[in-house]
Amino acid sequence: MPKRSRTVVCVVGARPNYMKAAPIVAVLRDSARLSPFLVHTGQHYDPDMNERFFAELGMPAPDANLEVGSGSHAVQTAEVMIRFEPVLDAARDPIVLVVGDVNSTLACALVAAKKGVPVVHVEAGLRSGDRAMPEEINRVLTDQLSDLLFTTERTAAANLAAEGIDAARIHFVGNVMIDTLIANLPRAIAPAATLAVAGFVAPAGFAVSTLHRPSNVDDPAVLRRLLGCLAEIGETLPVVLPLHPRTRARIDAAGLTGLLDGRRILALGPQGYLAMLGLMKSARLVLTDSGGIQEETTALGIPCLTLRDNTERPVTVEFGTNILIGRDPALILAAARDSLATGGKAGRIPEYWDGQAARRIAAVLEERF
Ligand code: UD1
Repeated sequence: MPKRSRTVVCVVGARPNYMKAAPIVAVLRDSARLSPFLVHTGQHYDPDMNERFFAELGMPAPDANLEVGSGSHAVQTAEVMIRFEPVLDAARDPIVLVVGDVNSTLACALVAAKKGVPVVHVEAGLRSGDRAMPEEINRVLTDQLSDLLFTTERTAAANLAAEGIDAARIHFVGNVMIDTLIANLPRAIAPAATLAVAGFVAPAGFAVSTLHRPSNVDDPAVLRRLLGCLAEIGETLPVVLPLHPRTRARIDAAGLTGLLDGRRILALGPQGYLAMLGLMKSARLVLTDSGGIQEETTALGIPCLTLRDNTERPVTVEFGTNILIGRDPALILAAARDSLATGGKAGRIPEYWDGQAARRIAAVLEERF
């Protein structure tokens, strides 16, 4: 007999969402009370940013794909809302579950909240305090719209309390992205294989860097300084640089392609999840502006320099291997040299980053709905 259950409409839109949703969808498939229905908004659409992750993570194909594509924040957010509404209308007794802080997260939460559909936010309460980041606006608004808020670190509850959110709606469950990391670590692809595909021979040791934040890549002067800094580190230790399409386009437009010389900087296309895991796990140092990579390096015990002025993930600095170094090349170089000389910042695994976060989420959802 088919199970009589509520539909949990799980939304993904962009690359960092997939590894968060995958373990939740997997546990909900086994639930007697709740059935997952996976919606992909299409915010990211290149196969390298998309299908490859679904295949590697064993995610089912989306039940609906909204195919919104790229656009300004207003266009992208509005387009997701318009296309999500009829999908939600067709769902039986729905609950909407959103993850992270991308435009698709906010758009779908807003549609659901106005229809009186319960909204569940996974990775709630993270705050950089920097409203110049589009993600910060998405975080604050999504949390205000949410009925249930699942947090990854203890600091999140205080952030939410300061914004007037009732503690009864907040559940500290740990980090679903780390569920995915733990489950997939044995399958990580060896760096030599990844580099060979790009025509590089794996160096004896390497650093890994990723850059994609508008604040780091959109201004050609800032981008030039950061790439110059990576090239200088590359004199000592080659830097493997998987490029987001946005960053690749900015480098080309700014005439900086020459810095990607294949000796100091080994530039790659966007990497799949298992290749990225393999690169990070073998790196002597990671330099990044990504939110997720700050957490993944902490979970892996790999030293990380975050090339930003703030972080919404302070647990990675307080307990983990992360140092918030900012964007001043002199400071970055000094920190990189120190890290390579000393072996880098040691850390410990934050509370509840134990591979069980999705199970905790499912248990709360089953009790509540
Ligand atoms: C989005 C998220 C960001 C997340 C990042 C991870 C928001 C506000 N930002 O930023 O939080 O860290 O994803 O990647 O939601 N593009 C492609 N192919 C794609 C997708 C994008 O070429 O499949 C290019 C397009 O030129 C596009 C640009 O990248 O305009 C930016 O894409 P967009 O989804 O707007 O933001 P991201 O920078 O990827």
